[in-house]
Amino acid sequence: MKIVRTVDELTALRNDNSFKGKRLGFVPTMGALHEGHASLIRRSVAENDCTVVSVFVNPRQFNDPNDYKNYPITTDADIALLESVKCDILYLPTADDIYNGYDGCKMDFHGLDRMYEGEFRPGHFQGVVDIVYRLFDLVKPDFAYFGEKDFQQVAIIKLMVKQKNLPLTIVPCPIVREESGLAKSSRNKLLTAEQLEVAPQIYRIITETCAEIPESQTPDALIETLKSKIDSVKFMKMEYAAFCNSENLELLSKFDKKIGTRLCIAVWCGNIRLIDNINCDIK
Ligand code: PAJ
Repeated sequence: MKIVRTVDELTALRNDNSFKGKRLGFVPTMGALHEGHASLIRRSVAENDCTVVSVFVNPRQFNDPNDYKNYPITTDADIALLESVKCDILYLPTADDIYNGYDGCKMDFHGLDRMYEGEFRPGHFQGVVDIVYRLFDLVKPDFAYFGEKDFQQVAIIKLMVKQKNLPLTIVPCPIVREESGLAKSSRNKLLTAEQLEVAPQIYRIITETCAEIPESQTPDALIETLKSKIDSVKFMKMEYAAFCNSENLELLSKFDKKIGTRLCIAVWCGNIRLIDNINCDIK
């Protein structure tokens, strides 16, 4: 695996003749890699001639300075994982270099940057779009792989690709979970042993609450039920939960079995914020 650290090195490599006619897959990450990331990278390796992975804890997307300060960095373990899944190129940018002379990416979020995650993490999606647009411009992938763990992120990146008319395809990939059901996340590493024990309750409660929802039920009532179940678990406080249209992420005020429905949720477990989402069956 080749490791590049600067825009110049990456650009030189990308312009190299050996890339001509090759199908290039790209997986952007913030490191502290786990099986969730590995599933995206394996898929890219299987579907492309060459796979680039970026590892960069992007300061612009952190609305909470403590979250940024505490974000786990495990570069040696990341390199070992990337070697084991046969990643071809690892791009390890620095903030000064990648943002040098780059203002960011202006786009119309259709209000999505202020809803759900956006409401509680102001500026987060602008920061995500800034870095992903820059990375796409440098890496020039044919296919870019994103996890449905960050369901709203996938929708926003798709919107950006469409608005900017970028010549690449976004490939959404399913959520990888622990055996307990807990969605794998770099932030799980920050949970105490006791919190880690209760964290799987999030998935248990959302799956139980959403198993075959009758159309007569209202989203508001179900969210109230969810909140009381989540908040009764030790360490936990629900920040928000929303039932939305899985295509355009519009908030649903009533259930409709003809509309693909996704439940998105954010829960504080102690001072660690966990997110999850599931597909809902409306009866
Ligand atoms: P990060 O949280 O490191 O995630 C990188 C990619 O891995 C994202 O597409 C995310 O959805 C996916 N991923 C994380 N956990 C997963 C899981 N359990 N199952 C499946 N996929 C999972 O998302 C980001 O970084 C950043 O916002 C980034 C796009 C890199 C921009 O900085």
